[in-house]
Amino acid sequence: VLRRDAPAHRHALLTDTAVARHHLARACDAFAAADLAPPLVVEIPPGEAHKTRERWAAVTDRLLEAGCGRDTTLVALGGGVVGDLGGFVAATYLRGIPIVQCPTTLLAMVDASVGGKTAVDTPAGKNLVGAFHPPRAVLIDPSVLDTLPLAELRAGTAEVVKHGVIADAAYLAAVESRLPGLLLPDRAGGQSPAAPASERAQLLGQLVARSVAIKAAVVAQDEQEGGMRRILNFGHTLGHALEQVSGYALRHGEAVAAGMALEARLAELAGVAEAGTADRVVAVLRQLDLPIGRPAGLDPEQVLAATRADKKARAGTVEYALPTRIGAMGEFGGRWSVPVADALVREVLAPAVTA
Ligand SMILES: NC(=O)c1ccc[n+]([C@@H]2O[C@H](COP(=O)([O-])OP(=O)(O)OC[C@H]3O[C@@H](n4cnc5c(N)ncnc54)[C@H](O)[C@@H]3O)[C@@H](O)[C@H]2O)c1
Ligand SMILES: [Zn+2]
Repeated sequence: VLRRDAPAHRHALLTDTAVARHHLARACDAFAAADLAPPLVVEIPPGEAHKTRERWAAVTDRLLEAGCGRDTTLVALGGGVVGDLGGFVAATYLRGIPIVQCPTTLLAMVDASVGGKTAVDTPAGKNLVGAFHPPRAVLIDPSVLDTLPLAELRAGTAEVVKHGVIADAAYLAAVESRLPGLLLPDRAGGQSPAAPASERAQLLGQLVARSVAIKAAVVAQDEQEGGMRRILNFGHTLGHALEQVSGYALRHGEAVAAGMALEARLAELAGVAEAGTADRVVAVLRQLDLPIGRPAGLDPEQVLAATRADKKARAGTVEYALPTRIGAMGEFGGRWSVPVADALVREVLAPAVTA
């Protein structure tokens, strides 16, 4: 695939130390097996705290020092943090070099690696500096999920729920009945799930395929988010705000889960969604043991304030992508997002949920 879709004289591979421990050797073997020279490996520490401009600078400096030219292809091997940071490096390095995404978390497989959005965080908010830079290819091997901690797998299911809510009620029902079994800890109480390996691999493969198809179909219609792509932001306006106010103690997927529960409620209050939509979203999230509201420790006023830094704010008002029912999103005259009064946002943020 690298030869066909991203021919290059050299390859650089960005990963984080946790992913490298489990999967770097196999990735390097794949280069050798394809008769490619070993890549320049650049490792960053794991975690959202490293999706920064400072890391972007450090990684680009490494590539420059190593003399990587425009004939270099970057391979991002990791979760959404490595993918977003790597994507932004590739978008900007020598005005742009090709990137191939090799996602290793469920979240990155079903969502982050597809669609070409890249970014780093700043103290003012998440993903505020970035670029659209579609990958030449996305290589997904669900077997790498065998080493993913259960909490990370669970967080990734939030984006799967999102795809069901925004586009496919039958998919949401299938997710609700089949996914929870994947997330039970094994009998030793350990990190790895209890489901038999073959069943698990098959189910994860199906999920990835359906979710990628839903996301790709939306992105194909509106790559640069002039309108319809905004439906993918469901749960993310309040989700990003919660994530930021928590100091990134909440995982992205966990924050999005809480954000979807809150925004579904908001959709009902605003008269956009039919009654019962929010209860249904909350019921599925409960099955998956994901957050269903504002965690008690986070101040509602701070969360509201954080929504204003979000890119989804237009002319000072914060806009939300809201469902009309499970499987369908509000169009609002082709805008696909709508301003919501602060009073309503305060109302949904008022009750705290204890984990
Ligand atoms: N660009 C987009 O369209 C888009 C969409 C959704 C999310 N995102 C971004 O993605 C990020 C979240 O991504 P994430 O949830 O993948 O988090 P992440 O990249 O931080 O990965 C989570 C943790 O899992 C570890 N890990 C990854 N793969 C592993 C494996 N196979 N085995 C063992 N450990 C492994 C990582 O080291 C890390 O500690 C957020 O920054 C979010 O903003 C971007
Ligand atoms: Zn997301």
